[in-house]
Amino acid sequence: MSIQTKYIQIATPAAVQDQELLEAAQIIRDGGLVAFPTETVYGLGANALDEKAAKKIYEAKGRPSDNPLIAHISCYEELEPLVTGIPQAGGKLARRYWPGPLTMVFPKSPAVPYGTTGGLDTVAVRMPSDPVASRLIALAGVPVAAPSANLSGRPSPTTARHVWQDMNGRINMILDGGPVGIGLESTIVDVSGPVPVLLRPGGITLEMLRDTVGKVEVDPAIQGPPAEGLRPKAPGMKYRHYAPRGELTLVEGESRAVVSAIRRLVEEGLAEGRKVAVICTEETRDQYSGGILRCVGTRTRQETIAHNLFAVLRELDDLGAEIIYSESFSQDHLGRAVMNRLMKAAGYRVIQV
Ligand code: TXA
Ligand code: MG
Repeated sequence: MSIQTKYIQIATPAAVQDQELLEAAQIIRDGGLVAFPTETVYGLGANALDEKAAKKIYEAKGRPSDNPLIAHISCYEELEPLVTGIPQAGGKLARRYWPGPLTMVFPKSPAVPYGTTGGLDTVAVRMPSDPVASRLIALAGVPVAAPSANLSGRPSPTTARHVWQDMNGRINMILDGGPVGIGLESTIVDVSGPVPVLLRPGGITLEMLRDTVGKVEVDPAIQGPPAEGLRPKAPGMKYRHYAPRGELTLVEGESRAVVSAIRRLVEEGLAEGRKVAVICTEETRDQYSGGILRCVGTRTRQETIAHNLFAVLRELDDLGAEIIYSESFSQDHLGRAVMNRLMKAAGYRVIQV
């Protein structure tokens, strides 16, 4: 599969001009594929109402087609035609957190093809706040189905360069709107049942959701390895996403014990002639020596860690790291999303010290 991929640099993403997006919008209307920035990660967009276009997304990503896509909208009026009703909790959360990094699962209307929802009778909908994403969707005039714009199994792209690495020759256009803000995919909440259920943690935290609607359950599939016979409600969560090519292990415990355990493990790996890497934080970076050292952010601001995580995992891939040790993080607020992605990337390999 090789098609000419056009690369468009948006001059000032915060004040994007319609003229810069007209060709992209036309490609989407014509059933083609356009990668675009959002506030979470870069998305790979196609017309959500066109089953054939959705199929092209799966081909470009090399992704199993039972994994449903999120339909992106630019205003509230675009929600109604996609769903059979808006449950009270869904309405409340939409008013509080849209546009933003929140995806909600609703019962789908007949307008949404099963090719977009992976055969499900529900549809995931998100209204992004990124100005390029929002304007592109409005100009396209159709809801835009968009998974993260990475090849299946690679970390989600947080820059247009990451998208280029994975998608050049496979899609019609890449819109470069600079690095994304949050760096982790949106929070997913299923509001189709009596109690909202968190299916994927993200920028809108569990604490924020509960603050708005009270009771919110947590899908057990996001807390640990998928148990035998336990099917995650977000089908995509069953795949080992975000997998770096190197073998990643998390080390958990009191900070000084973690540092000395990782130092010892690095020495062992180096002695065996392996290419070893460490993911550390501003607080600990001076305490390591040997191996490839990457600082992912500072513990005093969880958002820095979320922002840099995928780029660090990609960079370690590109450097050919064979063994990666990472410090672990507290599982509250944004840390829940960080640890969810790290645990999956590590295939749930954790050393307690
Ligand atoms: O931040 C994001 O959400 C990004 C940007 C581009 O908006 N998109 C994204 O899409 O992360 P993707 O395809 O990588 O992840 C979508 C997740 C998958 O785990 C999928 O299984 C779940 O959403 N999902 C989609 N539709 C669903 C539905 N009807 N019910 C339950 N889960 C659903
Ligand atoms: Mg993805």
